[in-house]
Amino acid sequence: TRCIIIDTDTAQDDCIALLVGLLDQESALEAITMVAGNVGFTRQVHNAHMTLSVAGRLGEVPIHLGCERPLTREWVSAENVHGDGAGGMRMDPTGCAPEAEHGVDALVRIVSESPGQIDIVAIGPLTNIAMAVVKDPAFAANVRSLTIMGGSNNGRGNITAAAEFNFYVDPEAADIVFSSGLNITVVPWAPLTLNDAVFDAEMLDQIATIDTPLARFFTKVCAATLEFDEAVGIPGTTHPDSLSAALLLHPELITAGADYNVQIETGSELTRGYAAMSWGVHDLPANARVVEAVDGQAFFDLICALLSTDTTP
Ligand code: BDR
Ligand code: CA
Repeated sequence: TRCIIIDTDTAQDDCIALLVGLLDQESALEAITMVAGNVGFTRQVHNAHMTLSVAGRLGEVPIHLGCERPLTREWVSAENVHGDGAGGMRMDPTGCAPEAEHGVDALVRIVSESPGQIDIVAIGPLTNIAMAVVKDPAFAANVRSLTIMGGSNNGRGNITAAAEFNFYVDPEAADIVFSSGLNITVVPWAPLTLNDAVFDAEMLDQIATIDTPLARFFTKVCAATLEFDEAVGIPGTTHPDSLSAALLLHPELITAGADYNVQIETGSELTRGYAAMSWGVHDLPANARVVEAVDGQAFFDLICALLSTDTTP
């Protein structure tokens, strides 16, 4: 059994990424750690609890509250993109208490209890992961792998011209993580997500016909981003977070990738959070493997299979 932790700013595709981790037969989702990002912190926690509930796992997977703001900067949200992150859905808060232990402490504890055995998927700003690196000098070496959703390797940003949201929100954290020696795989927003992880109208219709509680949940949580994506010329919903979780569990979906030197811009305001991904440009040492292409149809099929799961008790 693969032991995973998902560090998330739960809204829209983060919810789907949680489902990928929760429903994988070969994996144990040890913990969910929450980081400031997409939408209000309390809303994110509610969204994560709702996701556990629809997966039939409420109370079984601990949710730890991590950092409620970036290391040095003011929190920036993506509420313009995500609304409340769950298409207005609410649930009865009974049974939705998060753990008392802080998310950073949980990351450090779980990894130190099982050195070399924990795979982490980080699909929000990297604040919690950076804090764990700083807090425990053995953390970076003891994590088996870290899959990061962040950056772009064609220079196309989604919050500024230069930067992808997760790295923009906490560039100092991203800088610490890429300098830490962690065994990193990067799932960039562009061009990868735009090439291989956009679900167009036809695919979304196909999901709607699945007609399970999970598929209905998918349709509702993805509705807000669909509107935003279409307005900026993307022909469907984007799935960088669920792709990241899927690639950890099913690396055979990766059809191209290479070792890169990745550095994060922290000095400039214009290019804050820009990820310089260098491959073959100079002799800087590689510090991450960057995914360049995946089998998009196989990824979609995987999501459809997962949404077909019957979670009724
Ligand atoms: C990333 O930011 C959020 O909007 C998504 O959840 C994803 O993690 C994409 O830039
Ligand atoms: Ca996210």
